[in-house]
Amino acid sequence: MIFQQLFETETSTYSYVIADASSREAVLIDPVIEMVERDLALVKELGVRLKYVLDTHVHADHVTASGELRRRTGAKVGVSSAYDLACADLHLTDGQNLELGTLNIRVLETPGHTSGCLSFVIGDRVFTGDALLIGGCGRTDFQGGSSERLFESIKTKIFTLPEEMLIFPGHDYKGFTFSTVGQERLCNSRLRDGVTREQFVELMGNLNLAYPKKIKEAVPANLACGLPELFAPLDPQLLEGVPVVSALEIRSRLGQIAVIDVRGLDEFNGELGHITTARLISLGEGFSERLAKESRELETVFVCRSGKRSLEAARRAQELGFTRVYSLAGGMIQWNELNLPRVSDLGGS
Ligand SMILES: [Fe+2]
Repeated sequence: MIFQQLFETETSTYSYVIADASSREAVLIDPVIEMVERDLALVKELGVRLKYVLDTHVHADHVTASGELRRRTGAKVGVSSAYDLACADLHLTDGQNLELGTLNIRVLETPGHTSGCLSFVIGDRVFTGDALLIGGCGRTDFQGGSSERLFESIKTKIFTLPEEMLIFPGHDYKGFTFSTVGQERLCNSRLRDGVTREQFVELMGNLNLAYPKKIKEAVPANLACGLPELFAPLDPQLLEGVPVVSALEIRSRLGQIAVIDVRGLDEFNGELGHITTARLISLGEGFSERLAKESRELETVFVCRSGKRSLEAARRAQELGFTRVYSLAGGMIQWNELNLPRVSDLGGS
């Protein structure tokens, strides 16, 4: 196996080149746009051919070089199917295998840091992105993150790998380069064996971290595989002073945009179901108070049955100082007519 770990100092990001020695087919994991010349020079020096460029997730702290590397090498770009990115060639799912000469890349879905995080197992090593870091883990407070899901991912997908398997993370801020499954099970301060789900969730809920500096540019750019000129920004139409967006536009950005359903609980769980990433804050008594506690950093779309109450909710959000709020045109009725993914207790998802 040809293997190289690369570091980008501004955001402390690791990228990796792994290649099969006989066929010279290579994969680049988590490339950073500013480092694209360095990475291409290395690929040339090693005499390998880039077959895949894989991102462990849609990053918030840096812009990926995946689209640019595809343009210059013809490599296929792969990310989790959970993001449904139009710019990707491969929409990867749990258990999928990618051939790399005599090597095999096994895809593990390890969501929690974001809704679409993947880890990749190649030979004796696993590339965990921001799901599991050395002695820690990625934050879970944006991009569809969930500490419950992260706990589940680490315990059932990573910590069940052989103890001697090497862990190569997406970042390290202290100068560490790799670890092992056994070491993390013993020493990881957040997730070591014996830490309960409740303890972990409480700890993650109290981190109070500032948002990454580049999140507003990085996330939209990464939704276009790092080529923002291909990225079509939301195209809202103004209705009664509130920007209204279509179901299809929101669908392509699920996971990156906060979705707040403002119907009643019975409707939320009723026939029309609800959007998979939606959270319920019913319009009614206490609405503004609950809304005031929500993050203003990310874009937020409000959803109701037909698009009326969501207009009212978006207007209330604007009054509270939210600047990037939208109302979903046609509400869940339109969402269902387009057969978009939803959760429904009455069957169908
Ligand atoms: Fe990340």
